[in-house]
Amino acid sequence: MSDTNDDFFMNTYKRTGLVFASGEGALITAVDGRTYVDFSSGIGVNSLGHNHPRLVAALAAQAGRLIHVSNYYNTPTSLAAARELCEATGFEAVFFANSGAEANEGAIKLARKYGSSKSTDRVKIVTLVNSFHGRTLAALTATGQEKFHKYFGPFPTGFAYVPADDIAALEAAIDDRTAALIIEPIQGEGGVYPLSIDYMKRAQRLCRERGALFICDEVQCGMGRSGAILASSQAGLSPDVVMVAKGLGGGVPIGAVLARGEAAKVFGPGDHGSTFGGNPFAAAAARVVLAELGRPGFLDSVAKKGEAIMKAIAAWKHPLVASVRGKGLMIGIVTSAPPDTVKHLAMEEGLLVLTAGENVIRLLPPLVIADTEIEKGLELLKRAFDRVAAGA
Ligand SMILES: Cc1ncc(COP(=O)(O)O)c(C=O)c1O
Repeated sequence: MSDTNDDFFMNTYKRTGLVFASGEGALITAVDGRTYVDFSSGIGVNSLGHNHPRLVAALAAQAGRLIHVSNYYNTPTSLAAARELCEATGFEAVFFANSGAEANEGAIKLARKYGSSKSTDRVKIVTLVNSFHGRTLAALTATGQEKFHKYFGPFPTGFAYVPADDIAALEAAIDDRTAALIIEPIQGEGGVYPLSIDYMKRAQRLCRERGALFICDEVQCGMGRSGAILASSQAGLSPDVVMVAKGLGGGVPIGAVLARGEAAKVFGPGDHGSTFGGNPFAAAAARVVLAELGRPGFLDSVAKKGEAIMKAIAAWKHPLVASVRGKGLMIGIVTSAPPDTVKHLAMEEGLLVLTAGENVIRLLPPLVIADTEIEKGLELLKRAFDRVAAGA
């Protein structure tokens, strides 16, 4: 009998009680033998699905050579991962961290050092209302949602929030004391909300005119999720700094701060660091993910699968579905049903989905999901919505 007692964890998650044992592609199997279609990818992490043969082989091989070496030394794997990530994204330099929040902490420090080197009081970080940037103290403070700003004060100072897609508010907020603007090109946790491309271009221009760094948090929407390597480049933007994590390691913890131009040269020895960041085991995973994303047609297939899913859901004309939005395989279904109920019933039907914001069902399937798995998952999702409509 498998152990299902979770009393030894701190009470930080609304756990479902499911205990998973194995997975294959976009399918994941619990210890009781039941298999689920996975439209969640461990919150956008398992970009190559479960048990991807090339990822598994690369990790096994790397584990047999070196799992970890401190950042005072290089390994062929970490050197290659840094070069390949920069080449794939068009950035000049990378700092490897272990998570999204940590990548964001690094970017905030980079922006503060950059700003204060221009003028001592240029330290303000502007972010958007409804954003999500992570759970560490500075990343929580950067997160533009009141509900996260409780219990843990005092919070770091020097942060300001503006409504998304409101250029006038941005004009008022970005001034000569602003070190950086940080946006998610597609807000994830806030409700799968793609920002307007015109707004993002104007925001970038405003930052350039006023001497602030233009930074994109692509922890969720980056690394192929939007159907492009980065959602910012897909939108024609050229940020000074981008943070990625989640999908970058296909399940192995790794995050990255990417920078170009002056921003790439801000940190000097001792300014920042991470014991584990970019160790050869994590770097081996990132290299496989980058190689897969770089295969001809891979990113196009992500875009096409996403469009097909959104079209199929819209065609339901379901009374509980107000709209469907997103980019690539980052999809939000705006619903009048309680999202937690839909999620729970979907799980009962054999499908894992996520929620976001107040009224959104969020789908983040593995980027490699097969058409048959998409079809099956959509059938189960519709059943869950139908059950809510029938008052189940
Ligand atoms: C846009 C964004 N930034 C940062 C984070 C935090 O990442 P992590 O949970 O890896 O610290 C998340 C996590 O959901 C995210 O969606």
